[in-house]
Amino acid sequence: MGAEVVAKAIQVSVTYATGARARMALAPTDLQIQRGDRIALIGPSGSGKSTLLHCLSGLISPSSGVVTWPTLGRPIKHPGAIATVFQAPSLISALTVVENVELPLLIQGLKPAEARVRAHQALRELNLEFLTARLPEELSGGQSQRVAVARVIVGSPQLILADEPTGQLDAAAGTLVVEALLHCAEVHHAALIVATHDQHVADHFPIHLLVDDGHVAMGINEEGRQS
Ligand SMILES: Nc1ncnc2c1ncn2[C@@H]1O[C@H](COP(=O)(O)OP(=O)(O)O)[C@@H](O)[C@H]1O
Ligand SMILES: [Mg+2]
Repeated sequence: MGAEVVAKAIQVSVTYATGARARMALAPTDLQIQRGDRIALIGPSGSGKSTLLHCLSGLISPSSGVVTWPTLGRPIKHPGAIATVFQAPSLISALTVVENVELPLLIQGLKPAEARVRAHQALRELNLEFLTARLPEELSGGQSQRVAVARVIVGSPQLILADEPTGQLDAAAGTLVVEALLHCAEVHHAALIVATHDQHVADHFPIHLLVDDGHVAMGINEEGRQS
């Protein structure tokens, strides 16, 4: 069986604005992401981490180069195949936890009863069943992020992108979110890329991509710790 490449970037660069104000946020970058990859994207604020993630998710088109998603087909077959977890709370405040988690499935056209069952399964997988009936305002920051991970799980993702998902959390809550993401990736044999500037988060990942002023370099985690 050949390598299952979920995302491939060929000479991908991003320049924001034009003319004298043009700024290259991402220098031409080649990258191949395979199912099962566990990658920490590390770099200071403004180095280009979000820009790279947005290219890999298809949220923005690169200024040059191309991104392809070989295992996903074109057009991408199911909307949950590429899933993103953001730093800021992203749950819908008027919906309960279980309603938030089932929402992507309802949008995909699943029957409500089946969507509900799968949402409960995802919450149970992350030991979040006890939060089912709560509203987002009744959750801690760490709980909100883990519910956001449950919402990713229901989409059966092949590529999970998390943009500083622990940025607003203390170390203990952050670790639980990272463990939830790793679990989610494991269950779906997905690729996982987590942008972070927290060394403790990076320690969980065998592959490090170091981003410096738009330049991306590959590094291997010396400790080699796998989770
Ligand atoms: N929409 C945008 N318009 C103009 N400049 C942007 C935009 N988004 C990001 N930038 C700039 O691109 C650079 C990289 O940003 P970003 O990818 O957000 O970095 P990071 O996620 O590592 O903090 C920064 O200098 C930032 O100010
Ligand atoms: Mg960012």
